[in-house]
Amino acid sequence: MLLFGGTGDLVTRKLLPALYRRFAAGQVSAESRIFGIARTRLARREYVAQAESACREFLGKEFDAQKWTAFSELLGYLKVDAGSLPDYAPLAAALAGREPFARVFFFSTASNLFAAIAENLAKAGAVTPLSRVVLEKPLGHDVASADLINRHVGANFTESQIYRIDHYLGKEAVQNLMALRFGNALFEPLWRRGLIKHVQITVAEELGVERRGQFYDSTGALRDMVQNHLLQLLCIMAMEPPVSSDPDAVRDEKLKVLRALRPLCDKDVLTKTVRGQYKAGAVRGLPVPGYLDETDIAADSSTETFVALKAEIDTWRWAGVPFYLRTGKRLQDRLTELVVTFDEVPHPIFEKPPSQTANQLVIRLQPDESITLTILAKNPGEGMRLKPVSLALDLGETFKTRSLDAYERLLMDTVNGNLTLFMRRDELDAAWRWIDPIIAGWQQYDERPKAYIAGSWGPAASSSLIGRDGFSWRDEL
Ligand code: BG6
Repeated sequence: MLLFGGTGDLVTRKLLPALYRRFAAGQVSAESRIFGIARTRLARREYVAQAESACREFLGKEFDAQKWTAFSELLGYLKVDAGSLPDYAPLAAALAGREPFARVFFFSTASNLFAAIAENLAKAGAVTPLSRVVLEKPLGHDVASADLINRHVGANFTESQIYRIDHYLGKEAVQNLMALRFGNALFEPLWRRGLIKHVQITVAEELGVERRGQFYDSTGALRDMVQNHLLQLLCIMAMEPPVSSDPDAVRDEKLKVLRALRPLCDKDVLTKTVRGQYKAGAVRGLPVPGYLDETDIAADSSTETFVALKAEIDTWRWAGVPFYLRTGKRLQDRLTELVVTFDEVPHPIFEKPPSQTANQLVIRLQPDESITLTILAKNPGEGMRLKPVSLALDLGETFKTRSLDAYERLLMDTVNGNLTLFMRRDELDAAWRWIDPIIAGWQQYDERPKAYIAGSWGPAASSSLIGRDGFSWRDEL
């Protein structure tokens, strides 16, 4: 496994700890080799020391010094400047004789380097039939740039060798949503217009832009989160049952959802989208600066750190059922959940609390993993008054085992050659085709994002967006 961007945050904070955990679980053989690759000149020993301190920090009590020593023997470091072909010769030499092994090139650099890395790997003779390339998001910043990257990488790797990663698809609870929908006959008949009123998808973060100001300021929440994570969650929620669990069977169905999304063009952005930017405030009682005062952010930046939008899917199943999507940084809580609100009974014969919806299915991905179905039950005592209660499944409690981190699962999938949880080129293209007009609309009509106080649930306009249809976000009920 060759990790480009080997000294970056993703490799040190996520990928190396994930590989260590799989090693500790006995899934990485002693014959494997893992190379960090970056531009900096570093001795192997220095790289291993960096990796160790990152893993110690991120794994906490899970870190075991003895296992680390064994794991660190698999680690190597190569200094490669992405654009310089001669730098790839030592890399090819390090791989010589290892042709019978699967070879995973993980590109965790800025995506404008992907084309050069792919081409230089091929020229250096490092690409074998058992090679795979993993492309970390964001892949480009619009349809055209994504297409360019795909064409260049596609010139050196076949589509079945290309793994476009979206780590949300590797989360245990997302797998559970698939299990819930396609492993049980119970929900499928209810999973449609006429029975479902609306769906909410929230990915809220407490964190700000951290050390990624430069990247974030030229990206924004729509490209960073909606184009990939939220649209993928929407696909899993809305897709038709695939004919099998084969990668292409699943990806064909997700693609149909993306293609059925009603475009948000021109003035639609004014009524169906809200973008926000945080001002100074407090998160969990601690004061935090506003976005414009963060490091590496342009003083007059109009980059959005919050997006809420109303998506509609033009299919028989979903016509007339709004999907409300919302994501932001520096919000009140770290929370990722999908909420399905079912219809009211057509003819109520009992009294129920006025503001309560009868049935809601809440699939929570973060911070804990759970599935909760609210139903109305009789309030004890005289009279027939109803009250919402929960049928709740806490997945951590039930299975009493640590679920795999998304990258643990996805890295092993790349080694084992399973593409199911990775995006196909046409999916990526369809996602950008839906996102680009929103950005164009914002540029044309909506000059600045709306302010919200750090530690809140976003701008007030986000409540109005859903409120106009007579609904509220679940945390506002
Ligand atoms: C990344 C985004 O893809 O996902 C980050 O670039 C974001 O901005 C992160 O913080 C959230 O991932 P998770 O798994 O912590 O919810």
